[in-house]
Amino acid sequence: MKMSIRNAEELTRKLGQVVYVAGAQWGDEGKGKLVDILSQKYDIIARAAGGANAGHTICVNKNGKSEKFIFHQLPSGVLHEGKICIIGNGCVIHIATLLDEIHQLREKGIDVMRQLMISDRAHIIFDYHKEIDEIQEDRKGDKKVGTTKRGIGPAYTDKISRSGIRMADLLDFDGFAAKFRANAERKMKLFGIKIDIEKQINFYKDAVELIQPLIINTIEYLEKAYKEGKTILVEGAQGSHLDIDFGTYPYVTSSSTTSGGACTGLGIAPSKISSVVGIAKAYTTRVGAGPFPTELGDIEGTMLRDKGAEFGATTGRPRRCGWFDAVVVKNAITISGINSINLTKLDVLTGFQNIKIAVGYKLDGENISFVPALLNEFERVEVKYIDMPGWTEDISDAKKFMNLPKNARNYVLKLEEILEVPVNFIGVGVHRNEMIYR
Ligand code: GDP
Ligand code: IMO
Ligand code: MG
Repeated sequence: MKMSIRNAEELTRKLGQVVYVAGAQWGDEGKGKLVDILSQKYDIIARAAGGANAGHTICVNKNGKSEKFIFHQLPSGVLHEGKICIIGNGCVIHIATLLDEIHQLREKGIDVMRQLMISDRAHIIFDYHKEIDEIQEDRKGDKKVGTTKRGIGPAYTDKISRSGIRMADLLDFDGFAAKFRANAERKMKLFGIKIDIEKQINFYKDAVELIQPLIINTIEYLEKAYKEGKTILVEGAQGSHLDIDFGTYPYVTSSSTTSGGACTGLGIAPSKISSVVGIAKAYTTRVGAGPFPTELGDIEGTMLRDKGAEFGATTGRPRRCGWFDAVVVKNAITISGINSINLTKLDVLTGFQNIKIAVGYKLDGENISFVPALLNEFERVEVKYIDMPGWTEDISDAKKFMNLPKNARNYVLKLEEILEVPVNFIGVGVHRNEMIYR
C-alpha cells in the first residue's frame, strides 16, 4: 500500500472500511497498542480467534502517570467510550476470566457492558478444559508445547469434535445444564479429574444473568453495520506462526491466527477486508517451545529481553529473543495478504552496535526462502544474515521518520526493501503517542 501518512485519521481513510491487524511472527508483536490507537477512528473492534491465551498490552498516559492495561478476553478497543467491541464466533471464552476483566475495568470507571457483544456461536472454555490442558502438557514430557494453560487446545478440540458448548446454549439453560453434565462426566472418566458439576452449573446460572444481554448474532450485527458504512477493526490474536495450519506445528495454538481466521471467526467475507496490517517486532520473540532459527542465547539475547521487557503478558514467562527473521515475516505476508506493516519496538534496538537480519536459510546445502513443514528441517536450517550498523541515540521522542538517526532509518528501509511491503508505522515506545506514521 503506497501511502504517506501524517496521522491516525489519514491512515484510517487509506486503510479502508475493514482492517485486519495480524501478528506476523510468534505473537506479542504489539498488536494491542496499534489496535488501541486505531480504535479511536473505528466504529467496531472485533476479536476473531483465540481466548485468554492472548495478552494485549496498552499503556496510557493519564495525568502524567502511565497506566497499563492487559486484555486477555476483551478486544483492545474497550478503552474508547462508545466503540462497539465484539467477541466473535471463532473465539473461545472463559466466562470467569471475562467477568473478571469486566469487573477490573469497572473499578477503573470503565463500563464495558454498554459496548460489548458476544457471538452466540463462540465456544465456552470450562475450568475442566484448563485442567486438561495441564494434564496433556504434563503427559508430553520433554515434548511440551509450552501452552498458556488457559484451556485453549482442549476447548477447540471439543469444538472440532462437535461436542463443544456454545454461548447460545446458555440461553436455553436446562439444555445447557444437560450438555454440561454429560461433558463433565465424560471428562472425569477420561482424565481422572474431579468436577463439582452442580457448583459449576450454579456459577453459570448466575453468570448468564449478567451476560445474557450481550449474547447476540454478531454475524447479522456486523453485516448490518457494514452496509451502513461503519468501519470495522479486526484484532488478530497470537501470531501467524502459531496458526494451527500455517504455524510451526505442533508448537502452535489451536486456532486460525491469520487473516482467513478473521473471515471464519466473524463471518466477514474475504471480499470485505480492505487491508491487512502486519505487526512485526524490529527483532523476534517467542514464548513456549518450538523452533526459532534466529534465537540468541547469549548476551545479546538477554540484552533484548531486558531492554524490551520481554516477559509474557499472560503467563509472565521470559520470552525467547532473537534477530528479525525476514523469511518468517514474508511467510506471514503471503498467508495473510499483509499490505502495510507496523514495525514495533525499534527503540529497543538502540545501543546495539551491529544488528542482524535473517534474509534466507540453507537446508542441507540448498538455499531456501520458505519455512519448512518438517520441524527437524526447520530446526537445522542454517540462517543467512545481513549486518546493519546500529545507532546509540535515544529515539523514543522521534515523531517523524526524518527524526530517526540515519542508521535506524536505513534499518527500516532495508526491511521494507526485503519484505516488499511498506512500513507505515514505527513503534518507538510503549505509549500511544510513541508511534511514527509514514
Ligand atoms: P500483543 O500480544 O501483540 O498485543 O503484544 P504484548 O502486549 O503481549 O507485548 C508487546 C509489549 O511491547 C507490550 O509490553 C507493549 O507495551 C510493548 N510495546 C509495544 N510497542 C512498543 C514499542 O514500540 N516500543 C516499546 N519499547 N514497547 C512496545
Ligand atoms: P498474543 O495474542 C505469544 C503460544 C504459547 C504456546 C502456544 C500454544 O498475546 O500475541 P495455547 O495456550 O494457545 O494452547 O499455547 O502458543 N501463545 C502465545 N504466544 N502470544 C500469544 O498471544 C500467545 N497465545 C498462545 O506460548 O507456545
Ligand atoms: Mg501478547
